[in-house]
Amino acid sequence: MSTTFDELWSGLHPIGRNRAGGGYRRFSWTPADAEARAWFTAEARARGLRVETDRNGNLWAWWGEPAPGAVVTGSHLDSVPDGGPFDGPLGVAGALAAVDLLKERGFTPSRPIAVTVFVEEEGARFGVPCLGSRLLTGAIAPERARGLADADGVTWASAAARAGVDPERIGADPERLALIGTFVELHIEQGRALAGLDAPVGVAGAVWPHGRWRLDFTGQADHAGTTRLADRNDPMLPFAETVLAARSGAEAYDAVATIGRVQVTPNGTNAIPSRVRAWLDARAPEDVTLRALVEHVNEVARRSSVQHGVALASYQESLTPIVKFQTDLRDRVAAIVGGARPAPVLATGAGHDAGVLAAAVPTAMLFVRNPTGVSHAPEESAERADVHAGVVALADVLADLAGT
Ligand code: GLV
Ligand code: MN
Ligand code: MN
Ligand code: MN
Repeated sequence: MSTTFDELWSGLHPIGRNRAGGGYRRFSWTPADAEARAWFTAEARARGLRVETDRNGNLWAWWGEPAPGAVVTGSHLDSVPDGGPFDGPLGVAGALAAVDLLKERGFTPSRPIAVTVFVEEEGARFGVPCLGSRLLTGAIAPERARGLADADGVTWASAAARAGVDPERIGADPERLALIGTFVELHIEQGRALAGLDAPVGVAGAVWPHGRWRLDFTGQADHAGTTRLADRNDPMLPFAETVLAARSGAEAYDAVATIGRVQVTPNGTNAIPSRVRAWLDARAPEDVTLRALVEHVNEVARRSSVQHGVALASYQESLTPIVKFQTDLRDRVAAIVGGARPAPVLATGAGHDAGVLAAAVPTAMLFVRNPTGVSHAPEESAERADVHAGVVALADVLADLAGT
């Protein structure tokens, strides 16, 4: 087994890697994404799996004929800007390696097993995370998905069409969903909980509610040298107060809030900006605290905008309520993985396709220890032995779920 994961990884990990910075730029429907999808298709076919693309562009590789009760596992191959190697790809290469391991053991599934690759999990190109799984489950309207645009104004509909997905057919796919008996996602941990617990593999208990909001502060562009302070309508000022409000709100609600993406127009050193557009990512342990946090940030943004003579428009781009994974499945998986000492159960602040699927089908997640906890950055890492422990854990879970 160890060799098959390593072989898979040596084919996958160079794809979309920025050699200068070491991070990944694998955005949906770009050449790097196409290359990663082609890698998956070839590796799955080499294992005798039948590969198909669903109507939303997600890939499925079947071991056995598709039928209700299937055990489905997988993750995503897209990345955030300058992302790490494991977020997503670990769950795809790990799933193929788990299939190899089961075959090596001579295991014959009594139910079909499928390995999936979900599109646009990160929302890095089109703004809404987990778009492939949201479309599949009907959590986003197809009209809205079609109209989502990237930074250059290219819509999801046109980018998907160029990749061979008919945008008129995207949307909820109840027949395909009805095939899934159980979904299991293997993922790198994006924090240090397992490192602190001295455990190589853990199980997800919950996903924090999370969402994205866009705030547009519109003022008046003017000369940086000649415009008196009293005459300015500078959108940078309410924006700056909003950044601090995100921090103070997160502290007040034991939550997290981040402004990691900003566009300044016209972006000149010697001009007051005409507009600052910022994206807020906020996550909290409970739905009610997330709402309170976002309301606090919006309230500060409104107040400060009025004070500085700036117009504010605020939009919710996505919102995922709290996900609590089914406890009986979670405990079954923790027992399989941990043996005598069940694997630890963790809540996570990261979003996952498993979190979206959990609203529709029985779902579980496995995490592999991340020694530094760093993720969404090139420094994301995992020990080889822990990756292999994750693959064995996934294979054991698949064998249990797809066995007699
Ligand atoms: C996706 O990985 C997210 O949680 O932002
Ligand atoms: Mn991610
Ligand atoms: Mn991920
Ligand atoms: Mn994610």
